[in-house]
Amino acid sequence: MKKIIIFASGSGSNAERIATYFRENEGIEVSLILSNNPKAGVLERAKRLQIPSIVFDRQAFYHSEIVLDIIKNQKPDLIVLAGFLWKFPENIIEKFPNKIVNIHPSLLPKYGGKGMYGSFVHQAVIENKESESGITIHYVNENYDEGAIIFQAKTTVLKNDTADSLAEKIHQLEYKHFPEVIASLLK
Ligand code: GRF
Repeated sequence: MKKIIIFASGSGSNAERIATYFRENEGIEVSLILSNNPKAGVLERAKRLQIPSIVFDRQAFYHSEIVLDIIKNQKPDLIVLAGFLWKFPENIIEKFPNKIVNIHPSLLPKYGGKGMYGSFVHQAVIENKESESGITIHYVNENYDEGAIIFQAKTTVLKNDTADSLAEKIHQLEYKHFPEVIASLLK
């Protein structure tokens, strides 16, 4: 059995989509969901999906080996960041080369970096009157949104799109492609 663990800070709709996608696939499972946010919707989803979850704080993540040890114990084949907002510490990244992937809701390198997440990304895309946006799935390195790109998919930004309508289109792209890209990385 190959194992995926997921880090998420928010609603966790991507996490749920990934978990349910792999329920249909006998060789791969989401074994653990980790969150830095005790109020994150992803924790309710984990409970409903009967996937173990762990909440951790800054101390455990950045100033101890607690989170590192949790990951090591899982022996994950892939670590997936799905709407995870804290920067991954270098000491964890270097222990899992090419095993940590993130999804970003824009066509990187555009609209990436610190503070560029969620609706801030879509707002900026709309304000700049971009004609297209999309998703980027990439490896995680020590800088926000700068690791090697694995996959991108585009969507058209229409004149009457708002940050909310664009977010919805981007989510649909994420649900379609993220599980498939993860599956291809685990082959
Ligand atoms: C997604 O759009 C993802 O690309 C971004 O945060 C959002 C998370 O949504 N980084 P959800 O928590 O999976 O619903």
